[in-house]
Formats: sequence, structure tokens, C-alpha cells
Amino acid sequence: MEYAILHTGAKMPLEGFGVFQIPDAGEYERVVYDAIKTGYRLLDTAASYGNEAALGRAVKRTVAEGIVSREELFITTKVWVQDQKTEQDAYEAVKASLKKLDLPYVDLVLLHQAMGDYFAAYRGITRAKQEGLAKATGVSNFFPSVLANFCENVEEIPAVNQIELHPFFTQEDALKTMKNYGIVPQAWAPLAEGKHGIFTDPVLTGIGAKYGKSAAQVALRWNVQRGVSVLPKSTHMDWMEQNLAIWDFELTGEEMDKIGEKDLGHSEIINHFDPELVKFLNRRKIHE
Ligand SMILES: NC(=O)c1ccc[n+]([C@@H]2O[C@H](COP(=O)([O-])OP(=O)(O)OC[C@H]3O[C@@H](n4cnc5c(N)ncnc54)[C@H](OP(=O)(O)O)[C@@H]3O)[C@@H](O)[C@H]2O)c1
Repeated sequence: MEYAILHTGAKMPLEGFGVFQIPDAGEYERVVYDAIKTGYRLLDTAASYGNEAALGRAVKRTVAEGIVSREELFITTKVWVQDQKTEQDAYEAVKASLKKLDLPYVDLVLLHQAMGDYFAAYRGITRAKQEGLAKATGVSNFFPSVLANFCENVEEIPAVNQIELHPFFTQEDALKTMKNYGIVPQAWAPLAEGKHGIFTDPVLTGIGAKYGKSAAQVALRWNVQRGVSVLPKSTHMDWMEQNLAIWDFELTGEEMDKIGEKDLGHSEIINHFDPELVKFLNRRKIHE
């Protein structure tokens, strides 16, 4: 495992485990438990995923069983848009997440979307950080121009920006902006949520054959080799293991370029520029 150093000085594993879209809620705790057992140390959840309590239980179990210590884990959660309306709402949302997680602090708290009054909300999560409830603050889904404007107007630059990054949506411009501000890029859907035939893609499988690796492993390796933290999700332990085994091979510059050529220049998972989607996400309530 390699690490990114956040501007807070904290070490964040470059690869972590995402817990979004686990279809069976009864599976949440088992999946997170298996992920920690497999070796994942970065766990990525969000208030809106509805599984913070299960994640907290899985953490407790693995700590009690001596598999890991809390200090070895890097736990991220996110404040949902509903709570990105005022400073106080966002601050309270961090406290509500900690209550569900049953933890005294998280390692990173993100604003989930560049929506609502995200300046006020960021002040709220910054206050939570100052009180020791979060070790670092960051953002998610902040596109380059939004991120630049944000960084020019906040007191503390976000440590991380978590955005969609995979071979079919490479977002090189976003990476450049983050580099300029010293923000660590983190990939959601690093396996493109299985879209675009990613697992049987001829370029990815062709390159993988050379190293004895799968298309999934090549896609993940490509991102970490360009300095991006990745959060693959799987409910299957064999895929969890496979996705972690990306630290014993290196892609050549030519292979990196060839993978980058798959870029479509847009997302086919979500269109953040669609006003109807923005309306929907703003109105989506995850609590009373
Ligand atoms: N900030 C945001 O707005 C945002 C948005 C989306 C996601 N995220 C975060 O990013 C994480 C990852 O994204 P994601 O879950 O959307 O998608 P993803 O990790 O790109 O893809 C997950 C899919 O790939 C399958 N899979 C995983 N490893 C595989 C392998 N080695 N071979 C074949 N299939 C494999 C999984 O199957 P099974 O599950 O059936 O095993 C699942 O269907 C999320 O869990 C979440 O933490 C954040």
C-alpha cells in the first residue's frame, strides 16, 4: 500500500473501500467486516448511504477481534446536501454521523456535492474539525472552476476532492486544478460502476495479460499511478482481494497513455450539469 500525505500531515491510504450501493442493507456490516479482514484500511461512507451504523459495528468487531486498531483505519464520511444549507446544519450533521458510527472522530469529512450553501456548510465542518470531531475536511464532486473559486475564498483548502475518475472519464483538467491547490484527488467509481464493458475491455485486458492482472486491476493501477486515491467497492471477498493486489506491478508510460485514450470526456453515470438532477439532489431528504 502507498499513501497520500494530506496537507494536514495525515497519511491516507491511496486505496480504500467504498460502501455505496450495497443492494442488501442486511449485508452492510458483513461487507465492511470482510473488507477490513481483506486488508482495506480506508473506508468511505456517507450520511446519505444509510450504512454508517453498520460500518461502525464492523469497525468495532474487527477492533475487538484484534484484526485492526482504530488508529490504523482511515474513515471518511460525507455531509449530505440537505445539511449543506447553513453552518450549523453541517456541524450538526457531522455530530449525527459520529453518533451513528459510534466513533469520537472521523479521519475525513467531505461535503458530498457542490450544492446548497457550500461555503456556510464548509465553515460548519471546519468547526467540527477544530473541535476534534474530524481530522481533515474536504469536498466531493467539485468541478475545476467551482473548486478554484472555492479555494480562493476559504480559509483552509480542502484536503481531498472526491470525484468520478476512471479510464472512461479521466478528468485531467480536474487533476491539474487539484494539484495547483495541493488537494489529493480521490476517485469514486474507479471501476466505472462496471459500465462500458470495463471488465472485458480489450485494452485493459490486453495490458493486464502482460502482468497476470485483470482489467479491474489495470484500471485501478492506472489511477493510483497518476496520484489518484481509489475506492473500489465490491460485495465479493475474492474481488475485494483482487482489487487490493495492485501494488506489485507498474504500467509503462505508453500503457498509461493508451488507457487515458479511452476518455469519453463526460460521465455516463451522472450529469451534474442537469438542472433537474440538481433540483432532485437538493430536495432529497435523508432525515426529518
Ligand atoms: N462522492 C460521490 O458522489 C460518490 C459517488 C459514487 C460512489 N462513491 C464512492 O466510491 C465508491 C466506489 O464507487 P462505486 O461503488 O459506485 O463503483 P465501482 O467501485 O466503480 O464499481 C463497483 C461495481 O464493480 C463490481 N466489481 C468490483 N470489483 C470487481 C472486480 N474485480 N471484477 C468484476 N467486478 C467488480 C462490483 O460488484 P459487486 O458489488 O457485486 O461485488 C460493483 O458492481 C462507492 O462505494 C462510494 O464509496 C462516491
